[in-house]
Amino acid sequence: MAPRENFGSRFAVIMAMAGSAVGLGNIWRFPYMVGEHGGAAFVILYMLSSFILVLPIFFAETIIGRRSRQGTFGAMEKLAPGTPWKWLGLFTVVSPIVILSYYSVVGGWSVEYLFKAACLDFTNAEPSEIQGFFGQFISSTGGPIAVHTIFMLLVAGIVLAGVKKGIEGFTKVTMPILFILIIALAVYSMTLPGASEGITYLLKPDFSEVDAHAVAAAMGQAFFSLSLGVGTILTYASYMRKEENILASGVGTAVSDLLFAVIAGFAVMPAVFAAGIEPGAGAGLVFDTLPFIFNKMGVGAPWLSAIIAIIFFVTILVAALTSAISMMEVGVAYLTEEKGMRRGSAVLAITVFAWCVGVLCSLSFGPLADVKLLGNSIFDFLDKLCSNWLLPAGGLLFTLFVGWKMSRADVFDEFTNGGTLKANVALFNVVWFLLRFVAPVGIVVVFLTNLFL
Ligand code: PHE
Repeated sequence: MAPRENFGSRFAVIMAMAGSAVGLGNIWRFPYMVGEHGGAAFVILYMLSSFILVLPIFFAETIIGRRSRQGTFGAMEKLAPGTPWKWLGLFTVVSPIVILSYYSVVGGWSVEYLFKAACLDFTNAEPSEIQGFFGQFISSTGGPIAVHTIFMLLVAGIVLAGVKKGIEGFTKVTMPILFILIIALAVYSMTLPGASEGITYLLKPDFSEVDAHAVAAAMGQAFFSLSLGVGTILTYASYMRKEENILASGVGTAVSDLLFAVIAGFAVMPAVFAAGIEPGAGAGLVFDTLPFIFNKMGVGAPWLSAIIAIIFFVTILVAALTSAISMMEVGVAYLTEEKGMRRGSAVLAITVFAWCVGVLCSLSFGPLADVKLLGNSIFDFLDKLCSNWLLPAGGLLFTLFVGWKMSRADVFDEFTNGGTLKANVALFNVVWFLLRFVAPVGIVVVFLTNLFL
C-alpha cells in the first residue's frame, strides 16, 4: 500500500479543517435556520452549542484521529481492538456519504446560479421575474440533476488527486479568498435600503420563539457546520503531523467557522428584509435573496453587478467543494485502508452511490414531492435525520470513547503533545471535564427534550 500522506504544515491543516467546516452550512443553511427559529435568539443558542457541546467533540475526534493515524474504522480497531466500538467506525463511514448525497444537490444549485450569473440573468431580469427563479428551477427534473452531476464530478476529481495535491492544494488557496468575499458582500448588503430591519433581527434576541426544536436545531446546526460527529475531522486529523497543536486547531477552526456563519448572516438577512422576503422561507432563502441583491446592483452598474454575482457564486461553489471533499475522503480512507481498494475505485464507488441518493433528493422538490418520510420530503428528511440525530449521536459516541474508554494518560499525552504544550497542559482538566460530562450530558438532554417535548 502507498505510504500514508500527511498535510504539509499547520496552515494547511487549519485551512483543510476550516475548508471542511465552512461551506453551505454557513452560507445556505445557517441563514435559513436563523429565519426559521427566531433570529438572534437562535444565533445565541448556536454559539453556546458550538463552544460547550460541539468543540469538545472536535477535540475528541482529533485525539482519536491523530493518535491512531487511521480513518474512522481503522481508528476504532487500533485503539479498541476487538470491541463493538468498530460499529461506531462503520457508522461514521456511512453518515458522511449520506450527507454528501443531498449536499451535492445544493452544490448543484450553486453551479446553476453561477451559470445564470454569467449569462447576466440576474442583472437584466425584472425584479418580479427573479422571485420565481428558484422555485421553478428546483422543481424541474433534468436541470437540477445535471448540475448535481457536475458538482459530484468536481468533488470526485479533487479527492482523486489525493490529500496533499488535491485537498491541501485546493483549500489553502481558496479559503482566504472566501473570507474576503463574504465580508465584502456583508458590507454591501448592510447598506441596502431597508437593511436595518435585518440587522436588528440578527442582533435583538426574542426568546419567545425558542422551543425544544429550536434548541435541537441549534445543536444540529453547530454539528453540521463544524463537520463533527461523522468522522471527517477525525480523518483529517489522522493526516496531521505529530507536532501540530490540537487545541489551537480546534479553536482556530471553530472561531473561523462561527465568524463565517455570522458574517454570512449579515450578508443575507439585511438583503432578505430589503427584498421583502419572509425570513422563515426555508431552504430557498439564500437562493431567493442573492439574485435580488445582484439585480438591485445591476440598475446602476450592470457589469459590476454581474462580476460580483459571478465571484459570489464561485465562492459558494468553492466553499461547498471544500466541505464535500471532506465527506468523500472519510469513505475513501475506509475503502482504501480497510478494504484494500485503489483510490480511484473507492472514489468511483462512493460517487455512484451518493449520486443515486442525490437524484432522489433532487426529485423530491419536483416529481417526488408527494413522497413523505415522517411528514418530510426525502431531502428534508435526510437533512434533519443527519443534522439533528446522526451527527450528534456520532459526536456523543466519540466523546464517550475518548472520555470513558481511552485512558486519561493517553488523552493527556495526545492533547498536550506529551506534556510539551504549556497552554494545553493548563487547560487539560477543563477539556477533560467537558469531554467526560458536559458534552455527553448536554447532547443527551437535547435529544430527550426534542423527542418528548
Ligand atoms: N461543515 C460543512 C458545512 O458547513 C458540512 C459538513 C458536514 C462537512 C459534515 C463534513 C461533514 O457546509
